[in-house]
Amino acid sequence: MSYNLLKGKRGIIFGALDENSIAWKTAERAHEEGAEFVLTNAPVALRMGTINTLAEKTNSEVIPADATNLEDLENLIEKSQDILGGKLDFVLHSIGMSINVRKGKHYTDQNYDWTHKGLDVSAMSFHKLLQTLYKKDAMNEWGSIVALTYMAAQRVFPDYNDMADNKAYLESVARSFGYFFGKDKKVRVNTISQSPTPTSAGQGVKGFTGFMNYAEKMSPLGNATALECADYTLTLFSDLTKKVTLQNLFHDGGFSNMGVSQEIMESMEE
Ligand SMILES: NC(=O)c1ccc[n+]([C@@H]2O[C@H](COP(=O)([O-])OP(=O)(O)OC[C@H]3O[C@@H](n4cnc5c(N)ncnc54)[C@H](O)[C@@H]3O)[C@@H](O)[C@H]2O)c1
Repeated sequence: MSYNLLKGKRGIIFGALDENSIAWKTAERAHEEGAEFVLTNAPVALRMGTINTLAEKTNSEVIPADATNLEDLENLIEKSQDILGGKLDFVLHSIGMSINVRKGKHYTDQNYDWTHKGLDVSAMSFHKLLQTLYKKDAMNEWGSIVALTYMAAQRVFPDYNDMADNKAYLESVARSFGYFFGKDKKVRVNTISQSPTPTSAGQGVKGFTGFMNYAEKMSPLGNATALECADYTLTLFSDLTKKVTLQNLFHDGGFSNMGVSQEIMESMEE
């Protein structure tokens, strides 16, 4: 169903790799809600992924940008405003990557070059993005910037590895930069803490299926899907949430406030 929630709004969506990506679903839904936007991803991901199909479907252009590279970000933000015909109303940061996770390097035995790289891609890129948008004065008043995160920032999930630290940094940047963006430009900055979701990044985490099944059994409403995450993200881009900022918002079927569920109790008694 479409509500025209984003009619007339312009934005940038990072991170649509394939049709499972949360950013992919967000782009499809944003298009249905009347938004116009530019799609972006790292050059290597553009070669591997299928973003052109999404671009055709949503009538949008694709601009390559490595989110760790300031020149790429500057170019992306300038060109996006040219293409869209004005300042931006929304930006989605849907980016995550840990080489330690990918290569199965244990948290107690980090390769710190990889840790640095993962921090830069997954977390510092958000500061770089915010700073570039801020310096270029590229956001309209009452605009909205969202990054995606996971609850391992607050609680221990052993196999989430260094991504837990990256997410803690990311959420802190949303608050710290969100203060200045709110005060100086009337722009909101939030993170959405999403349920485990079967995407390329999600499935890279060791034991992901067990992780997902556990969360499903713990959450009174069950895990939130990528499409449901897209829908929630759109509400934050809309004018219906103008005073929501500096928040880490759990979108997880209730998981984050659970102690134990009946189903988990029963499985322990077997
Ligand atoms: N899947 C889950 O279980 C889950 C749960 C909570 C939060 N998240 C978060 O959601 C976000 C989106 O991930 P997803 O699950 O849709 O997986 P995904 O693999 O589809 O998306 C991750 C994206 O990050 C992009 N990326 C990697 N390095 C980049 C760089 N240098 N510059 C620009 N882009 C780069 C990838 O190309 C990819 O498009 C991530 O922040 C992830 O941590 C995912």
